[in-house]
Amino acid sequence: MYCYRKVTDDLYWVGGNDHRLTLFENIHPIPRGVSYNAYLLMDKSTVLFDTVDWSASRQLIENVEHLLAGRALDYLVINHMEPDHGASIEEIVLRYPKVKIISTEKAFLFMRQFGFSIEGRTIEVKEGDTRSFGKHTVTFVAAPMVHWPEAMVTFDTTNGVLFSADAFGSFGALDGKLFNDELNFDRDWIDDARRYYTNIVGKYGPHVQALLKKASTIDIKIICPLHGPVWRSDFAYLLDKYDKWSRYEPEEKGVMIVYASMYGNTESAAGALAARLVEKGMTNVVMYDVSKTHVSYLIAEAFRYSHIVLASVTYNLGIYPVMHNYLMDMQALHLQNRTVGIIENGSWACKSGTLMRDFIEENMRGMNVLSDGVTMASAMNENNLPDLESLANALMDSMK
Ligand code: FEO
Repeated sequence: MYCYRKVTDDLYWVGGNDHRLTLFENIHPIPRGVSYNAYLLMDKSTVLFDTVDWSASRQLIENVEHLLAGRALDYLVINHMEPDHGASIEEIVLRYPKVKIISTEKAFLFMRQFGFSIEGRTIEVKEGDTRSFGKHTVTFVAAPMVHWPEAMVTFDTTNGVLFSADAFGSFGALDGKLFNDELNFDRDWIDDARRYYTNIVGKYGPHVQALLKKASTIDIKIICPLHGPVWRSDFAYLLDKYDKWSRYEPEEKGVMIVYASMYGNTESAAGALAARLVEKGMTNVVMYDVSKTHVSYLIAEAFRYSHIVLASVTYNLGIYPVMHNYLMDMQALHLQNRTVGIIENGSWACKSGTLMRDFIEENMRGMNVLSDGVTMASAMNENNLPDLESLANALMDSMK
């Protein structure tokens, strides 16, 4: 059964939701599901903006067929070729054999790499090209590395709709609510939006900044991303988040304590530090067990908070493997500009603190690793309290 939403006048959301998928990209948990957004413009020509993942293909086809009501589909604009959006291209081509595909040179390269039969139907566009579909004229704007190199966004100069590809997207199924003013984004969506951005696009901050700069020059009325809600108000809220995330600036002054603990002793030290910080007036403190928390959540929280404390046991004379994986993910996603505190533990040959410090200083930019730290042998005792106090004071001082 078809299930679409009208976006504005002659534009319709024709995408689908997936509540069954456990891991997005087979790596990131999505307990709230995900939406794959596609949009159909019913102008003199009919134009489909992007397709959907295989899991939502049937829904897309039912939606498009119903709205076209026997008309042909004239154009398919592909803003982003990653298979969560491009997987249904061939299905569209099979059902609408006269359709022409409008996209970038690199997107066509990727389509061929994925084995799609597109010959004879490609229209290549580049930055600044325009095209009229009747009443509506669109401009194509390059958006490389937001999130793949072939990506572009499309701006409808007639009604101010920006088809923003992965930019401004979020994890989370829509469940009937399409627009940002039909839901409470700051209460129910921001955590998934942050986790989506930081893990999917977080590495490419400078490219997102370049896109934000281009976006600031056009009069946007509606933002239609490929995942999550469509935005038709409160752009300042969304743009502020994107600006901070893409500049690697924290959203909040606060301390995120991530601990790797085998028998609870390192966790106990992390808890003692948290209590000292709260007693000193910093109540915005959160604690995460690195072994129990999927790294995508830890990445999102690292982009949120100004201060990170890493507390780790030593394992095989190295950093505890799950903590090491977290460090490598932070490095890969180019997290920067944070103040870091270190707590290390080891029953013999305690190494994890030095190794974590070296990793951060050698591999990450703009990180201030505090010289005050805590080293404990097996479990914290009275002798460690002065160092714990010094670390808490150093964290507080660095927030002034
Ligand atoms: Fe939602 Fe980069 O694909």
